[in-house]
Amino acid sequence: MNTMLYPELYHSLEAVRWNMEQDIPWNKFAVSSLTDIQANTIKMNAITEWSALPATEMFLRDNYNDSDFCAFISVWFFEEQKHALVLMEYLRRFRPEFVPTEQELHAVRFPFDPAPPLETLMLHFCGEIRLNHWYRRAAVWHTEPVIKHIYETISRDEARHGGAYLRYMKKALSTAGDAAQAAFAKIGVLMASARRTEKPLHPTNLHVNQKLFPRDTVQSRLPDPKWLERWLDEQIKFDNIWEKKVIDLILYNLSLLFGRTFKTAQELNHYRKELAMRLQSNADMSKKV
Ligand SMILES: [Fe+2]
Ligand SMILES: [Fe+2]
Repeated sequence: MNTMLYPELYHSLEAVRWNMEQDIPWNKFAVSSLTDIQANTIKMNAITEWSALPATEMFLRDNYNDSDFCAFISVWFFEEQKHALVLMEYLRRFRPEFVPTEQELHAVRFPFDPAPPLETLMLHFCGEIRLNHWYRRAAVWHTEPVIKHIYETISRDEARHGGAYLRYMKKALSTAGDAAQAAFAKIGVLMASARRTEKPLHPTNLHVNQKLFPRDTVQSRLPDPKWLERWLDEQIKFDNIWEKKVIDLILYNLSLLFGRTFKTAQELNHYRKELAMRLQSNADMSKKV
């Protein structure tokens, strides 16, 4: 019998919760250390964080039968909206002309096509790991001390979100077995094969509504849809060394989860094919019975 994870996750995330007023050193703001170019990237990050709203609508719909997970999403949604808010609060105080409008925020709310929940779970696990690394780089790139502190703070939240999703992945392995492994391996191969020459693989950059194509990624609905690649390549300089850190962490966690070592995406892909064959032959056997 599986126990619910929500009560424990609620308490552990509550215990490390930061306070918008007290834990951000607002009075350390250094006016000459913030450029308009930097302020614009903060605006884009704030709107991207706001897309937790349609993601939550998707999670609640696609996980209707998992009330434990949906309860946890209340905490995740709260924290992601808080990320949008702290970035907007920073702009409101120091560069009000860059605060996103309500319409700009609302533009990223659109329905996502239904998707297999275990694949989405893995996708978001990888997304949190990636965002944790992007924000750590952003904290280094920025020159103004308050925004550096904000990016460091929210990057730690993203790491904890990844940890929470990982708990649900473990739980899924005990209930769905090989089917869960197959879903995680499929997305894992995709997420661990990224090279910086290709498009950034984050949930907000993937196509999620066929009818709205090509405006069916969160990034495509931002006031500046091209900002993300510029931010990664030219500003925070998310190079192959950083990309490798993300990939290694994904492979390391899947290795622990599956009890096998995957050093490369190719090794994981090999295992994915093994799994697919095993699932197929099990299905064939059950047809014969
Ligand atoms: Fe966030
Ligand atoms: Fe997050």
